[in-house]
Amino acid sequence: MTKSDLLFDKGNDKHAEFLVFFGTFVDTPKLGELRIRERTSVGVLGGIIRFINRNSFDPIKDCLAYDSSLSPEDVTVIDTIGEDKTQHSTFYFPGFIDTHNHVSQYPNVGVFGNSTLLDWLEKYTFPIEAALANENIAKEVYNKVISKTLSHGTTTVAYYNTIDLKSTKLLAQLSSLSGQRVLVGKVCMDANGPDYYIEDTKTSFESTVKVVKYIRETLCDSLINPIVTPRFAPSCSRELMQQLSKLVKDEDIHVQTHLSENKEEIQWVQDLFPECANYTDVYDKYGLLTEKTVLAHCIHLTDAEARVIKQRRCGISHCPISNSSLTSGECRVRWLLDQGIKVGLGTDVSAGHSCSILATGRQAFAVSRHLAMKKTDHVKLSVSECLFLATMGGAQVLHMDDTLGTFEVGKQFDAQVIDTDAPDSNVDMFHWQLQGEDEMQEQMQDIYTNPPLLTKEDIIAKWFFNGDDRNTTKVWVAGHQVYQV
Ligand code: GUN
Ligand code: FE
Repeated sequence: MTKSDLLFDKGNDKHAEFLVFFGTFVDTPKLGELRIRERTSVGVLGGIIRFINRNSFDPIKDCLAYDSSLSPEDVTVIDTIGEDKTQHSTFYFPGFIDTHNHVSQYPNVGVFGNSTLLDWLEKYTFPIEAALANENIAKEVYNKVISKTLSHGTTTVAYYNTIDLKSTKLLAQLSSLSGQRVLVGKVCMDANGPDYYIEDTKTSFESTVKVVKYIRETLCDSLINPIVTPRFAPSCSRELMQQLSKLVKDEDIHVQTHLSENKEEIQWVQDLFPECANYTDVYDKYGLLTEKTVLAHCIHLTDAEARVIKQRRCGISHCPISNSSLTSGECRVRWLLDQGIKVGLGTDVSAGHSCSILATGRQAFAVSRHLAMKKTDHVKLSVSECLFLATMGGAQVLHMDDTLGTFEVGKQFDAQVIDTDAPDSNVDMFHWQLQGEDEMQEQMQDIYTNPPLLTKEDIIAKWFFNGDDRNTTKVWVAGHQVYQV
């Protein structure tokens, strides 16, 4: 099977079967805490984690102890210890969460020249989004992005589509077929757009209602949810934002938009909405800030704006690849986290040129170091903090941390297998760096000084800095396998 062969067919769903995953489980239950549970069995039924046994020697026995009415034939064991000759290279990690991805812009990844936000939108972005009204083009792009993100271990994504109703329904449909957990947003823009890419207020609102109805009443897939998507304040009339706000509150729907990305954008918003104290106040005044609101970027916020975001319990999608590429600025992630504001990661394709949350995490690490050079070491993000943002932080931002982000009993089993020793892997470790290769280490003591051994944390850091999709060998969403190499 090739990298693009996804297990898209949900026809052979075996949700009644008890699955027991056996191996090393790594996750980040708290900011800065890297939890490594070795020789652990995780029992999954109906997509939900039912038990977790540490120091397990017999996963089938664990399962029968959990439910004595089961017989061994009812249980399927997925054993990475058996596959891992060295027991160093393979571990389960929670599926990545991409809190901000413009799927419709994917054909443009890497194409942005020297532009900054507002000229980038006019020159590159509106033309490609408008072109996706062609459903043949749209289908090809959506399938590519869904398969690409899954192959990079992303199990949950908040997608922005375009203003087009039909293709937004298609995106929801294809997402459902793929088994990815997805929030689907029809972009709303009834102001300040080019003639070829704008809608009137009524159409914008009504097509949003239709997308919500289609997803909730026709598609009826618990993995697919609608997300109301006013593009950003300059694209939306007051009337539209008010109507969307009422819909969000009446129907309890997620919201996503952009906030405080670029200095010219901020000035433009101030000019367009003189009645508002600041950019954040526009969304607050027109009712779009809820605990299910995802705000992308938030680079140049004032203290007063951060306080409102905290009060309204909104989440922030940090998109560091995009922010560096469009020279938007450096988001002060530590400053946000210190205030108890929820932060996750977003690829922001195509202002961000990668579909990989691992690559986005590395850029978050680098941007925090650049900030540290101007401020203090306190603002540096560690590897485990970046991995937290990539998983649990994203779950918090999407208001799904009760069910996603870590391996806990009662949570969904959204996971990836990481194999640092996968074919052609870019993660190089020498066998004499690994604990337990005793024979070799004994021989070497005679000849060389003992080489330093890698800790488990070192191995995870090596994956963080050098890993890519070659290391993501299998992916599950809600206990259903959606990808394998
Ligand atoms: N602000 C308004 N629209 C967009 C967009 O498509 N991408 C980014 N990064 N910022 C925006
Ligand atoms: Fe964006």
